[in-house]
Amino acid sequence: MDVNEIRKQFPVLDQLVYGKPLVYLDNAATTQKPLCVIERERDYYLHENCNIHRGVHYLSQMATEAYEHARQTVARFINAPEAHEIVFTRGTTESLNLLATSLSTLNSQLSTKVLVTAMEHHSNLVPWQQMVQRQGGELLVAPMDDNGVLDLHAYEAQLKQGPQIVAMTHVSNTLGTVNPIKEMIRLAHQHGALVVVDGAQSMAHLPIDVQDLDCDFFVFSGHKMYAPMGIGGLYGKTELLEKMPPYQFGGEMVDTVSFEKTTFNKLPFKFEAGTPNVGAALGLETAIQFIESFDRQEVTKHEDALVAATIEGLSKIEGMRFIGEAPERSGLVSFIIDGIHPYDLGTIIDKMGVAVRTGHHCAEPVMTRFGIPGTVRASFAMYNTLEEVDVLVKAVNRAATMLR
Ligand code: ALA
Repeated sequence: MDVNEIRKQFPVLDQLVYGKPLVYLDNAATTQKPLCVIERERDYYLHENCNIHRGVHYLSQMATEAYEHARQTVARFINAPEAHEIVFTRGTTESLNLLATSLSTLNSQLSTKVLVTAMEHHSNLVPWQQMVQRQGGELLVAPMDDNGVLDLHAYEAQLKQGPQIVAMTHVSNTLGTVNPIKEMIRLAHQHGALVVVDGAQSMAHLPIDVQDLDCDFFVFSGHKMYAPMGIGGLYGKTELLEKMPPYQFGGEMVDTVSFEKTTFNKLPFKFEAGTPNVGAALGLETAIQFIESFDRQEVTKHEDALVAATIEGLSKIEGMRFIGEAPERSGLVSFIIDGIHPYDLGTIIDKMGVAVRTGHHCAEPVMTRFGIPGTVRASFAMYNTLEEVDVLVKAVNRAATMLR
């Protein structure tokens, strides 16, 4: 794996900000896009742009075939048994809203008790919270310890309270914790719950096999895995998706329509109302091919080395406190420094060319749990280098000295 060669695929990285070389470490918010993805989307608009599943003409048929091919590629990438089990959405947030709305419409009994973990992003928390509140139900929360490791005993005890749905993040966007989801799914099924896995932070870093995991639903965003914004997906088991009612209504998701009655299209189209983001779906397919062009174990090793070097470098700074020290972690390091507000630190290192995210990272309850206003988060992608880690560590050091 030649990181310098990889970086040539990402021209956006090669620029100065405030006269300093950009060090982009905000990949958990969104990754940059390689040329092949940008060109795929551009090519679509240059040569293939057309509405799909609608026209008999050449372009429409070509675009339809390309879009359905992209669906097959996503299915293969996560080992879904059938391409129709992949619904294209705008991303993780839309996928989770689709699930919360559709499952509660399907059966109000399904939406009275939902179990989430204490480390959820708002998008895997608020839709479930709103759903149970509408039903006068209850949101259960599985706690974690001070290292950001989920308490599996407490999780199991809460399963005994009979949640109908368990929604869990695979990798925490604030702590980097990798949850033992296979075991969590097995336990949830033993207690008769449906399981939703939020893969927003895992798809770019870890291989996903939905059959091996045996999750009922798996959701993800393209833009966090080198694909364009505005595209993502929902995997669901056929027997569940078949039963679930549509989430949005309109064109394409219908079978027959009269003023008296409407019947709905088959899977996956009943969940894809309106004109989809075809160009982005093709970009997503190319992003998957891009990821697959590398040895994934080597990529993981490289990203783990970046995380380890960051921890080692930052730990020498006085007052450093890491938020999230789970033994199983992926892709990011969150920290605060005694007496320094994360926002101030982030603002100063930005002026040194280093892009990190500061704040609660859309996971406010995690910050409350640790009693802090927020963290500084450095998050990595395959194109980051150990030299960039060095720049980050030096920048944090300088900023901390200035702010003390
Ligand atoms: N969910 C994204 C993040 O963690 C935006 O930054």
